[in-house]
Amino acid sequence: MAHWVTVWRAAQLVGVSRGALQQRVRAGELELADDGRVSTDALLQLYPQAQFEESGMLERVARIKDEAFGRRVRERLLPSQEVLAQRLFSQTQELADLKRHLERYHALVMDLRGRIHDAARDVSDDRWQELRQVADRGLARVLATESVDVLDVMDDMLKVMSAQVTLRPSGHEFTVEGHDTLLQAGLRAGLKLNYGCGNGSCGMCKVRVIAGDVARVQHCDYTLSEAERAQGYALLCANTAASSELVIETLEARGPQDIAPQQITAAVRAVAELAPDTRLLHLQTPRTNRLRFLAGQSVTLGLPGSAATGGDDVHATYPVASCPCDDRNLHFYVARDSGDAFASQVFAGSVKPGQPVTVWGPLGEFVLAESTRPLVFAACDTGFAPVKSLIEHALALDAAPSFTLFWLATRADGHFMANQCRAWSEALDPFEVTLLRHADAGDGAREMARAMRADLFDVDCDFYLAGPEPFVRELDAQLAAAGVPAGQRFSEVV
Ligand code: FES
Repeated sequence: MAHWVTVWRAAQLVGVSRGALQQRVRAGELELADDGRVSTDALLQLYPQAQFEESGMLERVARIKDEAFGRRVRERLLPSQEVLAQRLFSQTQELADLKRHLERYHALVMDLRGRIHDAARDVSDDRWQELRQVADRGLARVLATESVDVLDVMDDMLKVMSAQVTLRPSGHEFTVEGHDTLLQAGLRAGLKLNYGCGNGSCGMCKVRVIAGDVARVQHCDYTLSEAERAQGYALLCANTAASSELVIETLEARGPQDIAPQQITAAVRAVAELAPDTRLLHLQTPRTNRLRFLAGQSVTLGLPGSAATGGDDVHATYPVASCPCDDRNLHFYVARDSGDAFASQVFAGSVKPGQPVTVWGPLGEFVLAESTRPLVFAACDTGFAPVKSLIEHALALDAAPSFTLFWLATRADGHFMANQCRAWSEALDPFEVTLLRHADAGDGAREMARAMRADLFDVDCDFYLAGPEPFVRELDAQLAAAGVPAGQRFSEVV
């Protein structure tokens, strides 16, 4: 008997990205029911058994039983014993309800069958004979033992290990694994959830639970009123899912206009050399005051004045290179630039671990648009920073059918994270990477456009461009001339 699962869950079961599955839906290879669900029968036809094994899902389940695999994976994958017990309890309740219904249906069908048999014996009407045969054959078919559908078993198992959350009214979905709170899991899935402190004190992450149960897993100082509790309100940052399916009502940020400006004093965690002329600046915010931002946005950093700066405070604006799903650890790529006083301090070794840095922001509109089109990213030098953040966000969202990255270096050490690009390209399919070199940003942009023209200009893609002004201006003009609509071109001068 077919079992119905959401596209999100279906992608998890067969081990492909949601974007890839949605593409097969659009191509008419997989049909969706009116409620957007997919039948496991259809899924089985599209993805034969061999692919489940390759997906790693069975292996993942098997590994849980393997003692040698150790505590780390179990802790990441499984929630606490209490939450696990609650999920098992709610699933057992569902199964008990289902069993009770089935028993009642069975009794009803047996009673009807008996009455049909009696009528067929007493009345000489062919239609009663025919009805008796239909009832007998139908019952024989239903009662025949069928082999257990591996997808159903995996789905039931997943329901306990990772709960599925649906947001209303957006319909966005995400899963909660391990010890994650609802907020952590939602951010990890790339959603723009409303929140503030992230530690249970401001109440900004308040949502209404429409279906399912939540369990408190973090301490919180914010107190919900009696009326709010009665209406099912809960804090995303303090709770996890206690039932295998959860529906919550919440408003999500639509874009940069919904993210409030913040001022945070972070601390330098590390300054690391990525290449001779490029440094990674890693800042960490206080646990109680994290930076809420969207992938692709920038912030202004400020250092207090020192003897080296003549007592003047030093400021600079940089794109955040890390993913908003980790709102405490902020990464920046700082290039050597004698005209940038902040960069000079970094390269002079004056910025040391533990030092306070003021963060203002977020700034900018260079964020991912809601779309299911293939994504093309084009970066020049440290324009790779916002592009990396966007790529990580897009990977978390799991909605794009394919990724293509072009990275132009105008300096000898311009490809300072080539290993990261190779890792994406090897681990993700399809993820194409092209690294280009050209001393002039504008000429390099033209060369990049030629490389894109070969196989991308005819495809309906979204293009994200980041880098110095001549690069962005030239490449954007080339894309416009090739007929890429303005609504599918997004750019940021870095
Ligand atoms: S984000 Fe402040 S209470 Fe949850």
